[in-house]
Amino acid sequence: MPNVYWFKGQVSRDDREKLHAHKGVVIWFTGLSASGKSTIANQLEKILYDRRCSTYVFDGDNVRHGLCKDLGFSDADRTENIRRIGEMVNLFIDAGIIAITAFISPIRQDRKKVCDLVGKDRFFEIYIQCPIDICAERDPKGLYQKAIAGLIPNFTGVSAPYDPPENPSLIINSDKEDPQTASNRIIELLEKHNII
Ligand code: ADX
Repeated sequence: MPNVYWFKGQVSRDDREKLHAHKGVVIWFTGLSASGKSTIANQLEKILYDRRCSTYVFDGDNVRHGLCKDLGFSDADRTENIRRIGEMVNLFIDAGIIAITAFISPIRQDRKKVCDLVGKDRFFEIYIQCPIDICAERDPKGLYQKAIAGLIPNFTGVSAPYDPPENPSLIINSDKEDPQTASNRIIELLEKHNII
């Protein structure tokens, strides 16, 4: 970018990580609407908080009320949604925080771009796998019913595609595993990689 220079402060990410006593990373959940991303993300955050980790959950519906309220659900808008979130998460990682994101993020290439931006050692992709008929049965916001009736265009899994991860850090089958068990498996993963 012309005439714009990155300013390097006196406190580094390493310093901030020492202060927090853990690394700055992103736990990137991906999966269909109503697959359980937000529930598991929040359960995970509570466990990490109780262990005195500095965390923040970014949730699809919440971010779309502010930072991304100008975006819809076309492929281009979803790509821009994930790009902005990726940049934001990158700053949180620089702050030494464990960012936890719960976005459908259906486009594989968009997720890869975030991984490339933050670095693969700091990107943990967690695939929340759940059969679509179970998501549609849960339907907490009544959106599947509307989408199937043709009232919501480009609805992921109904009238818009979802690219499952090819090599996720972890797969959670949310129709078989409760949020506590799933969160504990993510904790084990973070311990194994010396993040916490
Ligand atoms: S993403 O595709 O860009 O990653 P994001 O996670 O931000 O999506 O938002 C998904 C949430 O928006 C869903 O949980 C649902 O509540 C709502 N939503 C509204 N319209 C759609 C749609 N066409 N497809 C998917 N989700 C939708």
